[in-house]
Amino acid sequence: MANRKSRPQKRRRRSIIAFEMIRLNRTATEPLHEQLYRQIRDELKSGRFGEGSSRLPSSRALATDRGISRSTVRLALSKLHAEGYLRSKPGSGTFVANLLPESFLTANQPKTCQPIQRPARISERVKAIPDARVGNQFDLGATGAGPGVSLVASIPAVDEFPIAAWERLRAQVLTKKGVNLLRYSSNRGDVDLRKAIAAYLCDFRAGRCHPDQIVIVAGMQQAMLISAMAVLNPGEAAWIEDPCYQQTRRVLSLAGVKIFPKALDTQGIVIARSRKEPMPRIIYVTPSHQFPLGVTMSFQRRTDLLDFARAHNAFIFEDDYDAEFRFVGPPLPSLQGIDNAGRVIYAGTVSKILCPSLRLGYIIAPERLVDSFVKIRSAMDQHSSPIEQATLARFITEGFFLSHIKRMRKIYAERRDFFIKQFNELLGDRFTLQVPEAGLNIVAWLKREEDFPMIKRITSEIGVRPSALSFFCIQAKLKPAFIFGFAAWTPTQIRESLVKFASALRNQAPVAISLVRAEGQTRSRFAMPVDLFGEPLKPLPIFLRTCALTFVFDVASQFAPGDAHCTAQEFVDYL
Ligand SMILES: Cc1ncc(COP(=O)(O)O)c(C=O)c1O
Repeated sequence: MANRKSRPQKRRRRSIIAFEMIRLNRTATEPLHEQLYRQIRDELKSGRFGEGSSRLPSSRALATDRGISRSTVRLALSKLHAEGYLRSKPGSGTFVANLLPESFLTANQPKTCQPIQRPARISERVKAIPDARVGNQFDLGATGAGPGVSLVASIPAVDEFPIAAWERLRAQVLTKKGVNLLRYSSNRGDVDLRKAIAAYLCDFRAGRCHPDQIVIVAGMQQAMLISAMAVLNPGEAAWIEDPCYQQTRRVLSLAGVKIFPKALDTQGIVIARSRKEPMPRIIYVTPSHQFPLGVTMSFQRRTDLLDFARAHNAFIFEDDYDAEFRFVGPPLPSLQGIDNAGRVIYAGTVSKILCPSLRLGYIIAPERLVDSFVKIRSAMDQHSSPIEQATLARFITEGFFLSHIKRMRKIYAERRDFFIKQFNELLGDRFTLQVPEAGLNIVAWLKREEDFPMIKRITSEIGVRPSALSFFCIQAKLKPAFIFGFAAWTPTQIRESLVKFASALRNQAPVAISLVRAEGQTRSRFAMPVDLFGEPLKPLPIFLRTCALTFVFDVASQFAPGDAHCTAQEFVDYL
């Protein structure tokens, strides 16, 4: 007994193959074990059971389940074994063979005709989503979610998420509300959560709303999609900022809306409209902190925008995605708070405050739009997880939400300052940083525009992945810049990553290995490879690639008289 106790308990993996489709006919002439053998073999041949799902139920379970004797089951299984469909693992059970007999018996089989592959007919709706990326690159969530120090923009510090507190509250709400949290629930959202969010928005975002105006959604994208579908017919016009949050363009295109990019100036979106442009039915803006440029919309522009919307019967969609993280002065009140005419659809998200995987956001809907929003949500996916909604409601009412925001604001402010200092020290010769007043990103403008392709290539080679500003531009022609995220990584990680980036750039310095054709000379001569500081470069692998790729001709003027030159052969020897 003692011996048994001390042995670690090995948990048996349960079978997830149930062979539900097996039908045994007791009146047929074919024996039961043959029927069982044939049907299991056909199931296995269907190829549905991969490595992860390959354990068979025990003969006892199969016999009880099918109401037949164990010996019938054993007969069928031993035949499958003998033919190579199954394999046994002592002490673990019976598994589907990794290679089924069919895979090595197919050689002699008559060739079957390949069905003609026609491309699937894809709807115009899909084609309208502006994105050239394909395949794995297109799995956006997975693409940006890697664990490395990528300095990708817009990622919050999820490792600071208070998992223990969240789990405790989750267990409490499950105990208290029990099965009520397992049923379908309100399309508007959990009533306690709506009350908590309304109170939070009135107190901290100067919102003007009551809980009945709150609609809980699955994040900002869904808020945009619901709003666009509620107020625009396909083909009607939406204004968006240019450059703009890339998902806005994609979501509005999915809603069949015609997008008009609007330029930005130092006060925010430029409202001027050409005669040809149709009147917008919705105007998407990020007033607290423009994404990606970081402009805060001025008070004057806010009132002008509200006046414009009122005069032209348009709605304004206020994306307030990261207003909580403001480092200079107090948080600015929302646009919704100064709207007297029910023109602003305000939307917030917990993606930056807590974590993006919760997929929870909230809308303050103008009263006359609430029913339409709820109607669309009911036809879309009904509601977000009641368990997570109830947990978030407790998280807010018990004070965790506010204290988490305060804690994170402090952490992000420290990381922002650290990033700026390190970046200027290490990369200040190449970039000019635009110091952000808020948010989780920093814009770094290139000092020399021609560096852009080289920097883009290097960042992807070393796994640092700031986004090129041009990625967010529609018509805007802005100077080249990169958007760096700083929030998700510790100072040590930030430093390591910036050092790696700076040294990779330093080793790339002599992109201009020049082929000098000095007048009167018959032989081509190369400039000795030196970096921008005139120091000879070590022939590193990364450097070799660059040399091979980027011979720049006719730049002799870059070299002062007396610069060391070598013959082509000397240059090759050097490499
Ligand atoms: C401008 C903007 N809005 C919203 C979001 C977040 O949206 P969601 O709630 O769908 O995660 C982001 C994320 O980076 C953003 O940059």
